[in-house]
Amino acid sequence: TIEVLWAALLGFGLGSIPFGLILTRAAGLGDVRQIGSGSIGATNVLRTGNKGLAAATVLLDAAKGAVPVLACAQWLPGTEGVAAVAAVAGHCFTPWLMFKGGKGFATAAGVLLALAWPAMLVCAAIWAATLALSRISSVSSMVTVVAAPVVAWALGYPAVVAPLVAIAAIVLVQHRANIGRLMRGEEPKVGSKG
Ligand code: G3P
Repeated sequence: TIEVLWAALLGFGLGSIPFGLILTRAAGLGDVRQIGSGSIGATNVLRTGNKGLAAATVLLDAAKGAVPVLACAQWLPGTEGVAAVAAVAGHCFTPWLMFKGGKGFATAAGVLLALAWPAMLVCAAIWAATLALSRISSVSSMVTVVAAPVVAWALGYPAVVAPLVAIAAIVLVQHRANIGRLMRGEEPKVGSKG
């Protein structure tokens, strides 16, 4: 239906705004795609050494996931899941950067906050525990996105399980280079220069 199309357009449009690149460029730090993992996400922004910009990138990338989901809940009820998947896809495959972007984790976190905030709280704990144990951003991102649909189902949000599975698939595909580095033992820990 037309509502689904609007939700997809809104989610993808907002998701496609490359905040990490915009902020690092505005701060005169050059092109974040030329350093570390080449991603425009907050983990790679942190590799510029600017923690404040990395924090701002997390918040804005999460907001661009939460806003379309909340807008759809308000004005296009029933399309929240489509908006959620579209926002993560927009971030990962942004048309403004030749369909290359980030890995979708912060946007997925924003989406989950808007879809099912209690599940987001549990996932935040899983993420923090995994990061504390591994000290590797990609490991904690991947573990958390895979756990998210299970957590949502267990907490009684069956309607969001399918979108969360689709989001997990996108986020895992975007981590293919990380998975290769992890298998070679070359994935950098947080705080080290990637
Ligand atoms: O959330 C992004 C993170 O999982 C990986 O980022 O830059 O280390 O590939 P990066």
